[in-house]
Amino acid sequence: MKVLVVDDEKGLRRVLSIFFSELGLEVATAGSLKEGIKAIEEEIFHLCILDMRLPDGEGLELLKQIREKRLPTVVIVATAFGSIESAVKAMHLGAWDYLTKPLDMDNLELVVKRALEQASLRFENIELHRRLEEVQKRGEMVCASKAMQKVLEVAYRVAPTELSVLITGESGTGKELIAREIHRKSGRPGELVAINCASIPHELLEAELFGYRKGAFTGASGDRKGLIEEAKDGTLFLDEIGDMPLELQAKMLRFLETGRFKRLGETRERRVKTRIISATNQPIERHMEEGRFREDLYYRIKGIEIHLPPLRERREEIPLLVERFVDEFSRQYNKPKPMVTTEFLAALSRYRFPGNVRELRNIVERAVVLSPEGAPLSPEVLPEEVFKKAVVEADDPVLPLPPGGLDSLLESQERRLIIKALKEAKGVKKRAAELLGISFRSFRYRLKKLDIES
Ligand SMILES: Nc1ncnc2c1ncn2[C@@H]1O[C@H](COP(=O)(O)OP(=O)(O)OP(=O)(O)O)[C@@H](O)[C@H]1O
Ligand SMILES: [Mg+2]
Repeated sequence: MKVLVVDDEKGLRRVLSIFFSELGLEVATAGSLKEGIKAIEEEIFHLCILDMRLPDGEGLELLKQIREKRLPTVVIVATAFGSIESAVKAMHLGAWDYLTKPLDMDNLELVVKRALEQASLRFENIELHRRLEEVQKRGEMVCASKAMQKVLEVAYRVAPTELSVLITGESGTGKELIAREIHRKSGRPGELVAINCASIPHELLEAELFGYRKGAFTGASGDRKGLIEEAKDGTLFLDEIGDMPLELQAKMLRFLETGRFKRLGETRERRVKTRIISATNQPIERHMEEGRFREDLYYRIKGIEIHLPPLRERREEIPLLVERFVDEFSRQYNKPKPMVTTEFLAALSRYRFPGNVRELRNIVERAVVLSPEGAPLSPEVLPEEVFKKAVVEADDPVLPLPPGGLDSLLESQERRLIIKALKEAKGVKKRAAELLGISFRSFRYRLKKLDIES
């Protein structure tokens, strides 16, 4: 970490230099305001000790510049004994703390230690922010909600470690995307090799993973490396791990514990180092209860769990995702990029998205294709189910149970909705049925059942 000492007293600069070097910091010094300004233009400091009275101006000036440039530098001002107002002013301008001169070294050490903690927090946030921006810019991932930023933050923290990662979340929430991001940031020289345990027949899965020797089974016409070996010094991504057959789970566990395995049909053991990332959209706990998944394997693969929230719990990302996908597909289909109407977004913002981001992506693709060239995207190009299932669920933990039973509650709701629709449709039954998204026949049937006269 780097610290800048700005003070016109040469002796004090020297004392502070020694003090900070002993704390293991890199020190730069400046004897005037001008030198101080030059220093912050050339380098970014974690910490700055700033004397308020300098020969060519006020220390406050430097503080102002640090703030204007939005530098993350933590500033501690040093004021002459008794000039408390200037300290107050400095705090208003964003100084983090102040010290009075002559400096009390014990106090200095205390304040500096806390300031450095603050600095590392600020720098960590900046680093995180920079990475988030980088991801956004590369256009791979939209990550705008608090929840997703948390996810990415954890992903980046575990990326460079050896920890196994289990990514959970509903289908289409971006599990594979996160797995790739973790691998990309892991600094591993090897590749990410992905295998979907659900889409490969059980008998083949083993051979795919471990490889085989010529003649190990019918059809094994030559020696073949398995995916584990392909993922050497990289990442092995086990998608839909919940579907891995039990016999294979035992073998996998052994490999995870020892780093050793044999190709099918071979007796010689091989060793491979690889990072394991698994993903599942089913609750593995239930599989364990049912004896379909080994508990010991579960704990092996779940060094850390990253849960991706469903899209309906991060609706604030919908506009950005739409923007991203509109961009992508208008390019792909060679169309001018259409505007997106607020009605289009409003309709989407009420939808449940059982298929999450993947579904949204498909919806936007379809909309881009269906829209006439040059026309803005409007709700007409949305699929019907968006309106049918447009119920934002009542996330209400204290929803009271109906005292008269479910049927009577539903019936009274049905009655109210039907009457409301009839009113809105000015008594036109066909229109009222449309408003409710049901067929005219079904509407008539309900009128009769509930004995409503229009
Ligand atoms: N945050 C995001 N930003 C941009 N695109 C996203 C984002 N999340 C998901 N996608 C896109 O949505 C689609 C589905 O993502 P992905 O394949 O990672 O989901 P998944 O969770 O692995 O789904 P499944 O469980 O069905 O395998 C992909 O096309 C992916 O690029
Ligand atoms: Mg997937």
